[in-house]
Amino acid sequence: MTTEKITEFISAEKIASKIKEVAKQITKDYKDKDVLMLAVLKGSIVFMTDLIKEIDSNRLTIDFIGLSSYKGGTSSSGEIKITKEFDKDLSSKHVIIVEDIVDTGLTIDFLIKKLKPNNPKSIAVCTLLEKPSNLKIPVPIDYKCFVIPDKFVLGYGLDYQERYRNLPYIGVMEFLK
Ligand code: IMP
Ligand code: MG
Repeated sequence: MTTEKITEFISAEKIASKIKEVAKQITKDYKDKDVLMLAVLKGSIVFMTDLIKEIDSNRLTIDFIGLSSYKGGTSSSGEIKITKEFDKDLSSKHVIIVEDIVDTGLTIDFLIKKLKPNNPKSIAVCTLLEKPSNLKIPVPIDYKCFVIPDKFVLGYGLDYQERYRNLPYIGVMEFLK
């Protein structure tokens, strides 16, 4: 039997203070604009809820799209499936895609191509984490909290086989035999 050992990698305090910084920048950049924060389910929900509370705007709305690129292991299959559709009326909105992690870039690339025909006023990407070592396709990232090395991380919304999303910090997992 293998045992899962989690080590803290980015603390809850560090995440909270970085989110404040990013939210401040978004507040400034989207002043007087109708901004739609579109969270990619399921991994970005914890980030999204903390982020929107720090953005000062009375024109901010939220929505969700369900995308799945994982078959349950620790590496991406490259195949993206839509598990929940979003409200397609984007013509008056400045969309900010909210992601947990940009790894290969395939999910963001897929999503940007899917959003464009709905004619949003603009599309930006905000991610909690970026793992540049695995990037397969260049994607624009407008806001990011942390750049991380090629490690499998979990917690704060990110999962390992659907578990550990509820950890308040970002951890790395070691598999002990
Ligand atoms: P991409 O399409 O390869 O950029 O992958 C994006 C998705 O893969 C993310 O939204 C995550 O759900 C998942 N993912 C990538 N790396 C990790 C990781 O280290 N831990 C947990 N999920 C990950
Ligand atoms: Mg995700």
